[in-house]
Parts: sequence; C-alpha cells; structure tokens
Amino acid sequence: TGHFTYDPGFGSTASTKSAITYIDGDKGVLLYRGYPIEQLAEKSTFLEVAYLLLNGELPKKDEFATFEHQITHHTMMHESLKNFFQGFHHDAHPMAMLAASVASLSAFYHDDLNVDDPADRKLAAIRLIAKMPTIAAACYRYSIGWPFRYPRNNLEYVERFLHMMFEVPSEPLQLNPVAAKALDLLFILHADHEQNASTSTVRLVGSTGANPYASIAAGITALWGPAHGGANEAVLEMLQEIGSPDRVETAVKRAKDKNDNFRLMGFGHRVYKNFDPRAKIIREMCHKVLAELGVNDPLLDVAMKLEEAALKDEYFVERKLYPNVDFYSGIIYKALGIPTEMFTVMFAIARTAGWISHWIEQHETPGSRIGRPRQIYTGADVRDYTALGKR
Ligand code: CMC
Repeated sequence: TGHFTYDPGFGSTASTKSAITYIDGDKGVLLYRGYPIEQLAEKSTFLEVAYLLLNGELPKKDEFATFEHQITHHTMMHESLKNFFQGFHHDAHPMAMLAASVASLSAFYHDDLNVDDPADRKLAAIRLIAKMPTIAAACYRYSIGWPFRYPRNNLEYVERFLHMMFEVPSEPLQLNPVAAKALDLLFILHADHEQNASTSTVRLVGSTGANPYASIAAGITALWGPAHGGANEAVLEMLQEIGSPDRVETAVKRAKDKNDNFRLMGFGHRVYKNFDPRAKIIREMCHKVLAELGVNDPLLDVAMKLEEAALKDEYFVERKLYPNVDFYSGIIYKALGIPTEMFTVMFAIARTAGWISHWIEQHETPGSRIGRPRQIYTGADVRDYTALGKR
C-alpha cells in the first residue's frame, strides 16, 4: 500500500498551479499578481486589490469605476437572511454566524447560477465581496443586541463597513480617517496568501462543482481555527493573559516546553522562515495608529517585549519562528474598537477576495480535476465478521 507519496500537512505537495499570489518564504517576499505587498499596502486600496486578484491586472480608471459601482449595488443582504440571526443565542461566536449566513447565500442565489458561465462566476464574486461586510457587521450587532444597519452606498468599502458596525440611529458617526485607512491596509494584507488551509479548502470544495457560496463558507470554517485565522483572536487573549512585560519570560519558557501545549500565538509560519513581510508592515502601522488615535495600550508593550525576547531565543532562532501577520493585527483592531471575537471575521472579509479569485481561477483552468488525496492505510488486515453474540 506504500506507492503513494506520504506528505502529512502537504508540506511539499503542490496541489495546483496558480497565477495569483507568489510567496518566497526564505526571503520574506509576497506578491499579488506580481506586485510587491509593500507597494500595494502603501499605494493601493482594498477594493483595487480585490479587482487585481480577481482579474489579474490593476484596473484602469473606468474599469475601477464599473467595479466599484457593481460592488456598491450588491451590498444589501436579503431581508429574509436577517431572520437567520434570530435563531442564534446572543453569545454565539460571530464566526459561527458568519459561516452559516454565507452558506445560506446558496439558498438565495444558487438556483439560477451556472458555475460554468464566466459571467455567473463574476457575479457571485461581486456578491460575496459586496455582502461580506454587511453580514459581518450584522454578526457583531446581533451579538450586542443592536438593530442592523443598511449599507450606505455613498461611502467607500471600509467606511461603509465601519458605519454598519458602529453607527447608532440619530447619532452621526464621526469616522476617523486614520481608522479607516488602517482597516483598509489590514484588508489589503489579508486579501490572499496562496494555498493556505482555508484557500485549499475552498478549492477542494470548489473542485466538486459545489456552488461558490458553499465553497467560501467552507473556507470560513477552515479559517476559524487558532492555527490559521483564529490566531489573531488567540494572540490578543494571550497578550491579555501575559498582562505585563515582566511576565514575558515565563511565556517564552512555556512556549519552548514540549510538555506544555502552549504556543506563542502569532509566531511561526509554514512557509515563512523569515520575517512575514505583512508583520513588518503591520507593526509599523500599529505604532502609527495608536499614536494618531491617542491610544495607549499596554498590550503593545507586552507584544514588543515578547517579540524581542523570542527573536533572540535559541529555540525560536533555530526553528526560524518569526512574528506572522496575526501578531500585531489584533492590537490595531482593538484600537479601532473592534471586539476580539470579531478579529477572525475581519480576516474573513478580506480573504474573501482571495478565496473567490482562486475559485474562479480553478474554474477557468482547463483540465481541473476533483481534489481527491490518497492515504497510507494503517488499519486491520482483512478479517471475517463474527456475529454479535459470538464476540
Ligand atoms: N510557539 C512555539 N513553538 C512553535 C510555534 C509557536 N508559535 N510554532 C512552531 N513551533 C515549533 C513546533 O513546536 C515545532 O518544534 P519541533 O520541531 O521541536 O517539534 C517547530 O516549531 C515547527 O513547527 P510545526 O508545528 O511543525 O510548523 P507548521 O508549519 O506545521 O505550523 C503554524 C505552522 C503557523 C501552524 C505554527 O507555527 C503555529 O501553530 N503558530 C501559532 C499559531 C499562529 O500564529 N498561526 C497563524 C499563522 S499565519 C496567518 C494565518 O495562517 O492565519
């Protein structure tokens, strides 16, 4: 039975060819469609990056205007979808509500959808990117018992989302442009990351011919785990638990102890054996946002001390464990007033652009086959059934 390559966790198996995102993990390089993440972070916007991921090229002015128009005209969530939320207990995790709501989009938009039609695929992508912030904000407002807000289509993508999150009737929301810019930047950095666990999940589900909403819902559930997107929530909980810089040493010691299953959340990466380029950008942004919003968060001191201690510790150096994208992102989200439970939802909004781009690429690639990994069987040899009374 040993004629398959055994590759647990797919450390050395390319499951697909893809022209979307390039990572050089040794050098710490990340490119979307050839563009360095640093340049996109500095000069672009999330919606432009979403267009780039989907279409392969940066949009010309009129192309972007059309795309933005399409997005803003699909931001509403079906009124019936709102009823779904009523079935959840008020303290349901927002990721549970998000996954369920996105899966339910299949019930609203599936019947007339032909996954083999490029126009239908594009429409599904527009719908998903447009509706994700609306659904995400509803998850938050349901959890605090507030009425849902309709999307304001005269606003830009991120501003619209922040309004749906925080606006209170008759009290106009004073949006800080620094906050909006910071969130837009985080969305750019999280938009795609080639064949990570959730994207591979979307492709595996997509390979069966399943509809795009079902495929993305599967990606959301894969993202939720603390080894993946759930790490941003886990980082903040860890920093809170550590509590002060003088307790950092103990945390590092615990993380190294093989009898203790505590890991430094926000550290390490399957592909990056160098600084995660996104972490570098986020760390800088984190200092800037806190300064500009006038927030003094002691957790930033804990995070900085932790990073410093780990980076000079032999255990982390030997294993090439560096801070990843999730290490500093939570501190920014917290400064923006986004509750910890919503952190992974933020990641999901942004990653939707990447997921659906991969789903489309998969359907555009001739000869795509159903994903069907093999196994090395380790169970019992063939044996005869014995009747219940004779066992
Ligand atoms: N703290 C302590 N030890 C670690 C850590 C950590 N965060 N990460 C890896 N190690 C050790 C691990 O114990 C192993 O040691 P040894 O060789 O002695 O057994 C070695 O480093 C290699 O680790 P691995 O688990 O084989 O590596 P992997 O590629 O399978 O896992 C990872 C990658 C990201 C799941 C892992 O580093 C981890 O659990 N990190 C913490 C969670 C986290 O921050 N996840 C976010 C990843 S980036 C964004 C995203 O995907 O959402």
